[in-house]
Amino acid sequence: MAQMNNGVASSVTRKQPLWLLAEITYRCPLHCAFCYNPTDYDKHTKNELSTEEWIRALREARKMGAIQLGISGGEPLLRDDIEEIVAEAHKLGYYSNLITSGVGLTEKRIQAFKEGGLDHIQLSMHDITEEINNFITNTKTFELKKKVAAMIKDHGYPMVLNVVIHRYNIGHVDKILEMAEALGADYVELANTQYYGWSLVNRSQLMPTREQLAEAERMTNAFRERVGNKMKVFFVVPDYFADRPKKCMNGWGEVFMIVTANGDVLPCHSARALPGLTFPNVREHGLEWAWNESPAFNKYRGMDWLKEPCRSCDEKEKDLGGCRCQSYLLSGDAEAADPVCTKSPHRHLIDEAIKDSENPLLREQPIIFRNDKNSKKYVEGDKE
Ligand code: FES
Repeated sequence: MAQMNNGVASSVTRKQPLWLLAEITYRCPLHCAFCYNPTDYDKHTKNELSTEEWIRALREARKMGAIQLGISGGEPLLRDDIEEIVAEAHKLGYYSNLITSGVGLTEKRIQAFKEGGLDHIQLSMHDITEEINNFITNTKTFELKKKVAAMIKDHGYPMVLNVVIHRYNIGHVDKILEMAEALGADYVELANTQYYGWSLVNRSQLMPTREQLAEAERMTNAFRERVGNKMKVFFVVPDYFADRPKKCMNGWGEVFMIVTANGDVLPCHSARALPGLTFPNVREHGLEWAWNESPAFNKYRGMDWLKEPCRSCDEKEKDLGGCRCQSYLLSGDAEAADPVCTKSPHRHLIDEAIKDSENPLLREQPIIFRNDKNSKKYVEGDKE
């Protein structure tokens, strides 16, 4: 049905948000080199929403139809009101998922989550070696993560591990999967790095080669064949090595709504990097207005805004032109076709990035961490 967007007739059919992602704090004890959070995250670490403000946002989103709740960060466990927020989410009927590095998860807290009705915990793991774990996160968290994995299992949660894959751990995919199996994982997501935020800064250093990627996929398939249905393994292919872009967030303003630590309402994680958009904030606007009426949410909804070559492309419904943030970050034009697409006039930017990642001079540059005072190079065998 045609609807009116700020007085402009449009063929966009508005959907309700199904997912609410609460990026509850940008504070984090880890400093991962591949973090997708904004590089100017410290601008957004102050003025975090209060417990009451979060609960109000949860209620509003639930009323609009959101049913899946992700609680992430930063590290959400740095806030001491997650128990209260989880319990409220349960009462409201959300399926809730805590997305955590494990730092700050204690017996007492996990017990409270269980009692409060938290449905799911997703734990990030980084490698089978202490060196790479500590290097890539710029912390000493290797042993802690294994303890937390056991704690999650002991409390009867399905064990869901998320492993971001990059040049430093891609050769260990078979061993990472064996470690996950030994820990009793039910689901493992091997998420190849997507290049936003800090990972874009470190792209040449993090990006694997095409051969490494093919080998990692082969190892994943061999593991899947061996374990069958005992463990589900998702291998998320990096879009730089694909011919067509991803339908980012399943479409701008289609199913995902993100509320950030300071209350900004976004259609995707990186949207604040886009020029000329003012995002609503829950302290000034209701979520209903943000989703349905705000100019920012309507800007790239549907297909009316598409430019060539997407406008006349017979595949446009599959990807809606790809990712707006990736287009802007790489080409400087937020409305351009995602450069990943081989039909994009900017595809050369992706091919050049792949080439750069093979250039030893660029690849060996020190990595810049979230705390950029700590840029460093990986030295094999270094446990620091
Ligand atoms: Fe913003 Fe893809 S991350 S549209």
